[in-house]
Formats: sequence, structure tokens, C-alpha cells
Amino acid sequence: MFETLSAASADAILGLIAEHRNDPRPEKIDLGVGVYRTAEGATPVLDVVKAAERELVANQDSKAYIGTAGAADFNSAMQALVFGTTSPDKRLVTLQTPGGSGSLRVAAGLILRSSPDTTVWVSEPTWANHVPLLGGAGLNLKPYPYYDTSSHVIRIDAMLETLRSAVAGDIVLLHACCHNPSGLDPSAEQWRAITEVIVERELVPFIDMAYQGFAEDIDADAYAIRHMAERVPEMIVASSCSKNFGLYRDRVGTLSILSADSKTRDVVDSQVNNVVRTIYSVPPDHGAAVVSLILHNDALRSAWVGELTDMRERLRDMRVLLNDSLLAKVPQHDFSHLVRATGMFCFLGVSVEQVARLKKDFGVYMVDSSRINVAGITPANVAYLADSIAATVAGG
Ligand code: LMR
Repeated sequence: MFETLSAASADAILGLIAEHRNDPRPEKIDLGVGVYRTAEGATPVLDVVKAAERELVANQDSKAYIGTAGAADFNSAMQALVFGTTSPDKRLVTLQTPGGSGSLRVAAGLILRSSPDTTVWVSEPTWANHVPLLGGAGLNLKPYPYYDTSSHVIRIDAMLETLRSAVAGDIVLLHACCHNPSGLDPSAEQWRAITEVIVERELVPFIDMAYQGFAEDIDADAYAIRHMAERVPEMIVASSCSKNFGLYRDRVGTLSILSADSKTRDVVDSQVNNVVRTIYSVPPDHGAAVVSLILHNDALRSAWVGELTDMRERLRDMRVLLNDSLLAKVPQHDFSHLVRATGMFCFLGVSVEQVARLKKDFGVYMVDSSRINVAGITPANVAYLADSIAATVAGG
């Protein structure tokens, strides 16, 4: 039967990992997949994660199933982290999921059960896997304008105008912070304007938060979620611990669903748990148990906030360093959007041909759209990187 298949094309982001690994040039630079790296180019396990893992190994007394929703202590801690709540909200259900992607997939399953024909509006551009993941699950997707690739600003008026054309019940996928790929987030004022349209048109916000803590801090990065949660009857939030806890391969995330009232919440709770059972049955435990230990222990929690702050500040420093280096080498090109963006990503702002040339001639790897992961920049490689970019943009 498999002879009917033809090979799938390499993933636009994950495919770069192997390409970069197989490049023999020692000066090569990986600005591809969104993984944090130190100035030495490493992605170490956070110290606080190591400490929590030691405690877990010493004290965990069972590996028995924990159920479709995962661990209650993890879910309550994550609900508080995401929503800033101090006590459980009777309209809200939060489930442990295998990373942010698992959360998105379960959310798609729930949407398909409740409103299979609804439209999900996604930002243009958005994370390269949003459309394959949600569209592949069977949702109808339509783009809303988000980023102006020539002036490097958010197209807020065009975005609001498009959302005003949506019909009641449509879903709007938003990035809570560190928009992937552009790195540009709405200001608080723009979030309020987006919320007004959502309320006015009776739309349902579906917020993906993969980078909480990477833009400004844990609370500021959740502004859109917390602002909307007070104003809308229904909302979906996917959250990931891959980046902020460095638990990429352990697959840790949550799915939260806000319902109009507590009775509906209980129905949603039963349905979403049933969706989980039909996809992966129960979520993986290890990473979530580590996060739960950290969030429930004051000392571990403050150590985590410290490590998260270090990561965020290094990313910000590398943006400034690259922009300064490019300004010195190619002052006629404006790269100042690099420092206006936050988190791991932004567009370099070069053509797909120039992206190919950077890879071929200089061993500099980035996504075709010219999205770069600034964690790949270090004080040691920035001069070579800026020279490579300068030579490429000078060549047209
Ligand atoms: C990225 O955008 O590079 C990350 O979110 C990793 C991924 O899975 O694509």
C-alpha cells in the first residue's frame, strides 16, 4: 500500500537542523529552528530543571498513568502562570498537553466537535506549522494581514478591518507575545483595539503563547490573554514550556478553555478529555512534573525567573549587536526592526535568493522567509555574520 505515497518535502524549519549539521564549514551559523543558545552555542538544561529533576528522581514513587488531563498540581500552577489568577476559575479548564503543538491539536479536535464549519483566522505570516497543523486537522483557515514586510511594522488597521469582516463565532488565532516569525507584537493599546473588535463581532480568541517571559516578563507577556479573559465569554489558550523552561524534547504545555459559564465548562471539560483520549490517550509526565515542582517552590521559582531573565537579556543584546554591526558595514540598509522585535525571531528582511546565497556562500542558515533565530548570534560570530549579510545585500 505504501507504494502510493511520494516523499513529503522537508519541514521548512526542522529540515534546517540536518542541513546545518551536515555542513562541514567551521564558520557556519545556525539561525534556523527556535531553540535558545548560550554565547557558546549550547542549549543546556536549565540549572533549576536539573535541581527539580534530582528531587523528582529521589521522590517519585510511581509511573502509573495520570489521566487524560495530566497532573492537577501542574495544571493549577500553569493556569495561574498564564492567567495570573490566584484561585481556580469556575469557567476555565486547563489540561496538560504534549507541548504547544499537542495543545493546538487538541484544541482543533474540540473546535471540530463544536463548530466544524467555523473559520479560524490566522496571521499572515504565522508560525510555519500553524497552517499544516490546524488545517491538517480539518479546520478552515483564512489569513488576516499582520506584518508589512517592507516597512517592518504591524498592519494593525488592515488586521482590524479584516477581523471586522469575520462572522460571529469565527475564531482568531493570535500570538500572545514574541510573534513567530516577525517578533513584533501589538502594543497594549493595539491589544485593546483587537479585543474591542473581537467583543463587537462576537469572535473567539485562540491565543498561542509559546514564549511567555521572552519579550518583557512573565506577566507583561500574558497581557493579551489576561485582558481578553476579562472581556470575552469564550477563549482558547495554548501554552508551551518548551522555550521558557528549556524543556523542548520533554513536550510540556497546556490547553486552557474559557467557557461562558461553569455548566458549559464542565461539558467542555468532558469533551476535551475525550478528544485527548482519541489522539494520544494521556500526556507525558516527566517535564510537567519538573515544571510543577519549580512553580510550587519559591526558591526554585525565583531561580527559574532568573534563568529566564538571562535568556531574554541575551537575546536582546544579540539583536542590538547585530544591528550595530550591520549599521557599521551597510549604513544604507535599515535593519533597525531587529531591535524593535522581541523574543527569538524577526525577519532579516532579505529575499529568498539572498537567503539561499547566505546558506551556499557563507554557511549561514535561516528559514526561506529570512526569519532568523537571534539565539544563534554570539559575540564571537557576529562580525562574520554581519560581513556575510553585508556582502549578500551589496550583491543585490
Ligand atoms: C520554531 O518556530 O522554530 C519553533 O517553534 C520550533 C518548531 O517546532 O518549529
